[in-house]
Amino acid sequence: MPRLGWASSGGGKVAPAVIVHGGAGAVPQGEFADRLEVLIEARQAAWQIAAAGGDAVSAAVAAVVILEDSPLFNAGTGSALNRDGFVEMDAAVMDGESRAFGGVAAVRDVKNPVVLAREVMNSEHVLLACEGASRFARERGIPAFDPAALITARQIERWRQARRRNLGEKSGTVGAVVMDAAGRLAAATSTGGMPDQRVGRVGDTPLPGAGSYAEAGLGAASGTGYGEYFMRSLAAFRAVSALRGMEPPAALRSALGEIASLGGHGGMIMIDSAARTFWDYNTESMCTAWRDSRGEGAACQR
Ligand code: GLY
Repeated sequence: MPRLGWASSGGGKVAPAVIVHGGAGAVPQGEFADRLEVLIEARQAAWQIAAAGGDAVSAAVAAVVILEDSPLFNAGTGSALNRDGFVEMDAAVMDGESRAFGGVAAVRDVKNPVVLAREVMNSEHVLLACEGASRFARERGIPAFDPAALITARQIERWRQARRRNLGEKSGTVGAVVMDAAGRLAAATSTGGMPDQRVGRVGDTPLPGAGSYAEAGLGAASGTGYGEYFMRSLAAFRAVSALRGMEPPAALRSALGEIASLGGHGGMIMIDSAARTFWDYNTESMCTAWRDSRGEGAACQR
């Protein structure tokens, strides 16, 4: 493992840390290598921004944009199709420093929902949905994107499988957590939701504390899994809050244990206040890539 130096640019006082995920679930083994390649690209993009003195929010958003643009993941291009056969996406960004949060839900016509979520975060709102989110995008100069261009052959096949037997690989939500060189934390998450979900169904991703959470001096987390259970347990908030009395591995275990006790499963990535990256899951697999002062890596299974 390479040992990394302390970031010195941008007046930073800490080593940055980045961790990204491409969803937890039953990722086909044959896709591990391709997914890891994109995750490493996303990690590097975030790392370069953070190490050059950029802010954690910009770094996390940059990483998620790369993952949204990859058809391999269930976010942006390549999102799951809902019951009527089209895409509705959720995304969120949280700045741990200001505790500002921006979410978009069931948005259909933007290429990168995470970019729109950042615009919401920088407005007077916390969450915008459906048509209202689209109108807000246009106001902020984010162009309309052809919803048909978000649909991939892979997701059409997955949708067919889900409709036939309610089966199919459901992983692919993406997320990034960053601590920048000034010690600021941010989390960003993006998803196309669940295959064959009801029109208008919104998951945990755009809701503060459910799919994403960041709090200065404590930690930040981004989750992936069955959103209903993440919402009911406020999973990301639960995991970060647990850092008050637990080490990060125990905090993640406890949040995932709570989800499991409700009947759900998933995974989560985290950075603590010491700029250390962590991840855990209670599904078959979870693809992540990380880099901090202890080293770097990428894996789909522990
Ligand atoms: N975690 C993504 C979703 O349930 O929509």
